[in-house]
Amino acid sequence: MRMVVCEEFGPVERLRVVERESVPCGPGAVRIAVTATGVNYVDGLFVKGEYQIKPPLPFTPGMELVGRITEIGEGVVDRAVGDRVFANVGLGAYASEVVAPSLATLLLPADTSTLSDGQAATFMQSYLTGWFALRERVQAREGQSMLVLGAGGGVGAAAVDIGALLGLRVIAAASTPEKRELALRQGAVAVIDSSTEDVKERAKEIAGESGASGVDLVYDPIGGEQSATCLRALGDDGALLVIGFVAGIPMLPANQVLLRNRRVIGVDWGGWALRNGARNNELTGEVLDHVLAGRLHPVEPASYPLERAAEALADLDARKVAGKVALRP
Ligand SMILES: NC(=O)c1ccc[n+]([C@@H]2O[C@H](COP(=O)([O-])OP(=O)(O)OC[C@H]3O[C@@H](n4cnc5c(N)ncnc54)[C@H](OP(=O)(O)O)[C@@H]3O)[C@@H](O)[C@H]2O)c1
Repeated sequence: MRMVVCEEFGPVERLRVVERESVPCGPGAVRIAVTATGVNYVDGLFVKGEYQIKPPLPFTPGMELVGRITEIGEGVVDRAVGDRVFANVGLGAYASEVVAPSLATLLLPADTSTLSDGQAATFMQSYLTGWFALRERVQAREGQSMLVLGAGGGVGAAAVDIGALLGLRVIAAASTPEKRELALRQGAVAVIDSSTEDVKERAKEIAGESGASGVDLVYDPIGGEQSATCLRALGDDGALLVIGFVAGIPMLPANQVLLRNRRVIGVDWGGWALRNGARNNELTGEVLDHVLAGRLHPVEPASYPLERAAEALADLDARKVAGKVALRP
């Protein structure tokens, strides 16, 4: 089997692909021949040693994968050889083969016409974050307006899609025409060019067209200075959903939170999911049902061979990707 290895924390270019012997498939585990691996922004943080958790070296990055089961370990009764499954493995998904606890796998329909392997390997983290944020952290209501920052990135595009399904009026901010077109396809009612326009002012103008004092929600995977600015785009009782910090951790002015009774709401889906497995399984089921019924629309990712994992991570970091990226072993 082939796997990507990070031997020291540092630039993603130092990642190597190596050949290794397969490991045994122990009790309760399944062996999966990987067909697609999701590439997430956080994978690059792990490799650079910039994530809050630093795994012991060497390690193989990657959380999410899709593949076919080729072997089942002792005691596994609810999976069979040939099953198509998604697995969240924490680390180790940048590989041609993975042995994972069967409990970490989710059975997918064998038919790939509604959900391809690439889509299935790349949607879970982005969509569960959005579903958790908009269903559990705030109870988003039909007719509310939501400004999504970084709306052409993986997490942003998922939030646009979920917002549209929930009946929100989604205003999408993104830096390139390709990303803004993706946001429109995902259901945004208006787009803002974040590279040339004043995002806060434009969002307020668009929300003002229906008489509101500002937007109801800001979905923020970006952070940095834009967070503090866009906090001011919120109307009465509006909420800033803190999702991520690709542009740095912001300092938010408390006076702007006080004004208009605004709220700042943290969203830590990964940590919450570990502590609330049963409820997270329910949310996962809800999202998967919507996807398989065609009500949610995960994007078909750009695909890179496993050997080009470093390039995939570098392209994501350089903001070149609209939507998601998958590795194909
Ligand atoms: N809270 C949670 O539970 C949770 C779960 C999953 C992910 N996340 C976090 O969400 C964030 C986004 O992840 P993602 O998968 O959407 O990443 P992504 O696909 O790389 O998209 C991020 C978007 O951010 C913008 N961007 C990137 N670098 C920037 C910079 N330096 N300054 C301003 N904008 C920048 C880009 O949009 P433009 O080019 O349009 O500006 C890019 O499309 C990450 O921090 C990730 O760790 C959080």
